[in-house]
Amino acid sequence: MHVTMIKKELADGSPCKKCIQAEEVLRRRGLWEQIDEVVFAKEADPASLGMQLAARHHVELAPFFLVKEGEREVVYTSVIELMRERLASPMSAPPPAVVNGSAKAQPNGEHPTDAEVVELNQRFAAAEPLAVVDWVLARYGESAAIAFSGAEDVTLIDMAASTGHRFSVFTLDTGRLHAETYRFLDRVRKHYGIEIVTLFPAHVAVESLVRKKGHFSFYEDGHGECCGIRKVEPLQRALSGYRAWLSGQRRDQSPTRTAVELFQLDRAHRGATGPLLKSNPLARTSLGDVWEYLRERQAPTNELHDRGYISIGCEPCTRASRPGEHERASRWWWEESTKRECGLHTHLVPEADYKI
Ligand code: ADX
Ligand code: SF4
Repeated sequence: MHVTMIKKELADGSPCKKCIQAEEVLRRRGLWEQIDEVVFAKEADPASLGMQLAARHHVELAPFFLVKEGEREVVYTSVIELMRERLASPMSAPPPAVVNGSAKAQPNGEHPTDAEVVELNQRFAAAEPLAVVDWVLARYGESAAIAFSGAEDVTLIDMAASTGHRFSVFTLDTGRLHAETYRFLDRVRKHYGIEIVTLFPAHVAVESLVRKKGHFSFYEDGHGECCGIRKVEPLQRALSGYRAWLSGQRRDQSPTRTAVELFQLDRAHRGATGPLLKSNPLARTSLGDVWEYLRERQAPTNELHDRGYISIGCEPCTRASRPGEHERASRWWWEESTKRECGLHTHLVPEADYKI
């Protein structure tokens, strides 16, 4: 097998950022030695070898990889897929139980203890979000899932991809999202070459709600019932397959989120082996930090942001932000600010009340 990496050189001679990131991932995972050859696609030189290969294989993304076995050539536009499918890798071994620290290794199936969660919050108190993401994925791999819907979550996916660890991603399709959001979900899927597990609400419950109350009952009796059916129940179904989950919550996002911790023990949901480790790596970051990161990484974003939307949920319950108002004011604006939560991030119930 012969692996060629095709990197892009921009028209002004500067390197492509995604190519640098891909190389970083490969080096971090100890796989760089398995790249046999690097060639450049120079934007300013259509005759450069990389440009010719891109044209021959109809590839528009950079970097990309050509894996040659005998006469057969396979193109990979995702470094994650290349690592998973073709490179002999530490990734194919089970993830180490713990990195970077003193926490005790957990045998498979065992959930973290309250004491460990306290210890983790102390240990990572001054750490960058990437270090938190790296720790969770090193320990849980694909049994950790990123709950994906918005800009913060793309940040988490981007960081997860840059660690080179395995991870999962799911989204809850309420059936009431903007068309722009569906296009965004698809762009993220393609950009990172990842699978996004999509959960839909139980059709019987939706049909019953709409039959009794129509399509907009939330404007009359609050969003609790509809969110319960379209988001909360599917979330429980999603989480039942994982041992840890990551969310993009920030403390400054809402008056309801000021106490969000980097790590929590989620006893409100039942994971594959009991309570889940829930991580909010962006808890201490601001909206500005998130956007700086996304721009720097040239990550895909929802086109609604260009039209004044900041926090985006379902179409009937989200409006563009007005000048000077808090980002959260554009969600369920007809309700009190302390009630603007859909129930995904419910109060975590005490252990005594948790029944497996
Ligand atoms: S919500 O509770 O008000 O809807 P918000 O939009 O602020 O949540 O998002 C906070 C976090 O909840 C996101 O970063 C994401 O992890 C998770 N989340 C929200 N909506 C969804 C969804 N539809 N699918 C998956 N995760 C979601
Ligand atoms: Fe229903 Fe609105 Fe909640 Fe979406 S945000 S699930 S439309 S109440």
